[in-house]
Amino acid sequence: MSKSQAKFVGQHAVITGGSSGIGKAIAKLLAQQGANISIIARDSAKLETAKQEISSLVINPQQRILAVTADVSKQEALEFALKKAIADLGHPQILITSAGIAVPGYFPELSIETFHQTMAVNYFGSLYAIKAVLPGMIAAKQGHVVLISSGAGLIGLYGYTAYSSSKFALRGLAESLRGELKPHHIKVSIVYPPDTDTPQLAAENKIKPPETKLMTETAQLWSANAIAQEIIRGMIQEKFAIAPGWEMAILNKLHSIIGGLLNWYFDKIVDKYRNKK
Ligand SMILES: NC(=O)c1ccc[n+]([C@@H]2O[C@H](COP(=O)([O-])OP(=O)(O)OC[C@H]3O[C@@H](n4cnc5c(N)ncnc54)[C@H](OP(=O)(O)O)[C@@H]3O)[C@@H](O)[C@H]2O)c1
Repeated sequence: MSKSQAKFVGQHAVITGGSSGIGKAIAKLLAQQGANISIIARDSAKLETAKQEISSLVINPQQRILAVTADVSKQEALEFALKKAIADLGHPQILITSAGIAVPGYFPELSIETFHQTMAVNYFGSLYAIKAVLPGMIAAKQGHVVLISSGAGLIGLYGYTAYSSSKFALRGLAESLRGELKPHHIKVSIVYPPDTDTPQLAAENKIKPPETKLMTETAQLWSANAIAQEIIRGMIQEKFAIAPGWEMAILNKLHSIIGGLLNWYFDKIVDKYRNKK
């Protein structure tokens, strides 16, 4: 283990959405680097399986892995779960909000309920978690909050009106929170993952509009482990924006400048598809 990775030894990392995909992959890497971990999600069977997988990777017998059930969109339930995690493993030094949902579809066909639910999980689920752990971080004068946004949090994507809005909201939160927490020695990072091979993406692919599929099919597909490695590297380097791969790196730096060009390109794809129909 390198000196920089040793920084996670003995730390308590809370990971919402830690039972699957990117969240679980981060939990596994942190377990291999000596952290205590609390994972939070809804499905207790999935949580238990993930807990076993993560526990098998610990590097010392003192490490503790905890799985707590909660729906992050329900403030009281999430606070209750976080109280349990804090009572068992102490105040977390790290919070990673990876719990998220994505419901693609044509805007007229998406219900208002889908918009409410997507904001409730992706945005408010992250906000409630930050609010709950922040007093402990402020008192300890240390902490790292890592929000998982998306490439769709940098540019609005066809078919992703509900999802993109929620991921943009996270970007606004992270950008304004960063400066406020800096005097408290608490770091904020926001992650813009590209398409990653997880159950969420598999579910999205079944219902994505064909135009959205055409726009995204040429992008490189990442593994959850590769994204988790980029996130850990970004955390060690104390990066604010963690944008894995060259496509996300360019999008992160230049999204306002190249937005018009991307829209032109995407509109061409939509025109071509519709003219063929
Ligand atoms: N995969 C991609 O291509 C991609 C790209 C960019 C960004 N992201 C973002 O990365 C994050 C992780 O996604 P993933 O692809 O790893 O998805 P995933 O494998 O489906 O994992 C999602 C996790 O969130 C949990 N979750 C969902 N709704 C929840 C709720 N209401 N309360 C508590 N936990 C909840 C799930 O567990 P339960 O269902 O049991 O609750 C699961 O543990 C998400 O924020 C996603 O938007 C993913």
